[in-house]
Amino acid sequence: MNEQCTINYGDNKQVSLPMMVGSEGERAIDISTLRKNTGLITLDEAYVNTGSCKSAITYLDGEKGILRYRGYPIEELATKSRFVEVAYLLMYGELPTPKELDAFSGLLNNSSLIHEDMRHFFLAFPNHAHPMGILTTMVASLSSFYPVPEEMSDEEERQVIANLVSQVRTIAAFSYKKFIGEPMIYPSYKLRFVENFLNMMFSSPVQNYQQDPDIVKAIDTFLILHADHEQNCSTSAVRITGSSLANVYAVISAGISALWGQRHGGANQGVISILDEIVTSGDDGRRFIEDAKNKKVRLMGFGHRVYKTFDPRAKIMKELCHKLLNKPGMADPMIDIAMRLEETALSDDYFLSRNLYPNVDFYSGLILKAAGIPFNMFTVLFAIGRTPGWLAHWREMRHDKDNRISRPRQIYVGPPMRNYIPMDKRAGGGRTSLSGRFIADGDTSNPFVKSKRFTETVRNERFIPAPPPDNKPSGPDSSIARG
Ligand code: CMC
Repeated sequence: MNEQCTINYGDNKQVSLPMMVGSEGERAIDISTLRKNTGLITLDEAYVNTGSCKSAITYLDGEKGILRYRGYPIEELATKSRFVEVAYLLMYGELPTPKELDAFSGLLNNSSLIHEDMRHFFLAFPNHAHPMGILTTMVASLSSFYPVPEEMSDEEERQVIANLVSQVRTIAAFSYKKFIGEPMIYPSYKLRFVENFLNMMFSSPVQNYQQDPDIVKAIDTFLILHADHEQNCSTSAVRITGSSLANVYAVISAGISALWGQRHGGANQGVISILDEIVTSGDDGRRFIEDAKNKKVRLMGFGHRVYKTFDPRAKIMKELCHKLLNKPGMADPMIDIAMRLEETALSDDYFLSRNLYPNVDFYSGLILKAAGIPFNMFTVLFAIGRTPGWLAHWREMRHDKDNRISRPRQIYVGPPMRNYIPMDKRAGGGRTSLSGRFIADGDTSNPFVKSKRFTETVRNERFIPAPPPDNKPSGPDSSIARG
């Protein structure tokens, strides 16, 4: 394509930049040569307008609510496929033949154990440790037990991929057993991917877990719906970490860490916290909606950077949720509250004018709850589902001959050059936050203040230790050693 984009800048200067078009007609200005030719950079905070790579894995149209893996609509994959097939599709680009699927499933099963010595690591975590913290640590530790050669053959790459897809699931189940203080249950060669996970979670030496095909299907579909979502926060973390040529276990661990946050994968826990809070307070949800509109809280499971209409995954989740909760003995009053919240929000101009619709997380927590998955494992289930997507992106990047280290630039807005101030000449008046931002005394503009209510709820679940009563920031008079 020969279309060009011309930018006027400075004193009558002009630069022409090539346009590029994706296979679904998405258009972009290619600015790869901008700085070299003009000295200019672009500023796009939070990457709202920036394409960070070319990728052939997932197509997403946020305006139309379309999601496809390797060209296949998510709706078809969710109803007709299995998670392991989808993992293969994402990784290798085509749906597997029966022979290829057998080989891939066999490899996953053969790779499901973790080194026996790693089981001792679990003992060192405190009992209330969040399973996401355990998962990210353990996945990074896999690199010590399964070292990755610098030059990987195709076979070694296949093995590393199988290790991660399979072992993330084993670690997840082991971390739950650690949390509840039960012996760990080993994976079994006889069980399929999801059944194996549920068995490791819920069987014990004294009781066999009875598989329910509807729960197995629901979890399988959940994993498919979470398997990839192009350049989201955690996948970008994976690509950025991988671009330094860090080993693949460290790369996936970085993805897990990025996923943990409540704006991303942590939102599925947040939705259940909200529903629980509404049930406990006896509100019908309207007060919560008002608080959300007044920016006191966020309605978790609502809104999306890319979707400006219904998230297609949310529609499937909602149907699945109804199906599961309609089973005898599985009713959950929280679904009525969720539906009322959705209805109230979708008839309110605040949400409509901002294109805030339910996302994948809005109904997924209810499905996991119905399946018996404990609250603090919800984001871990997201991580199990997303691992094939992360690996597909890592693999795509690894095989891209033009791949270079990711290294964005910035516009520096700090103080200009100044002279060093000796300790005895420095005034107080504030502190530096953990993120390095200087917070003047009395400044309440910290964005995290907004999420206090969610943090309180989580703290009540004992995932975050409460600060000591006199947790004052250390100022100049603090007795903490400096240096
Ligand atoms: N509740 C209330 N207001 C909201 C919400 C919400 N959930 N989401 C966005 N807004 C408002 C926001 O206050 C802002 O209003 P204004 O224009 O008056 O300043 C406007 O909508 C745009 O929001 P934003 O924060 O600039 O949008 P973003 O694209 O930066 O953030 C988001 C996207 C998903 C982080 C955000 O919508 C959110 O925090 N949602 C709740 C958390 C959540 O459900 N996350 C899971 C996302 S899907 C799973 C995944 O892929 O991770």
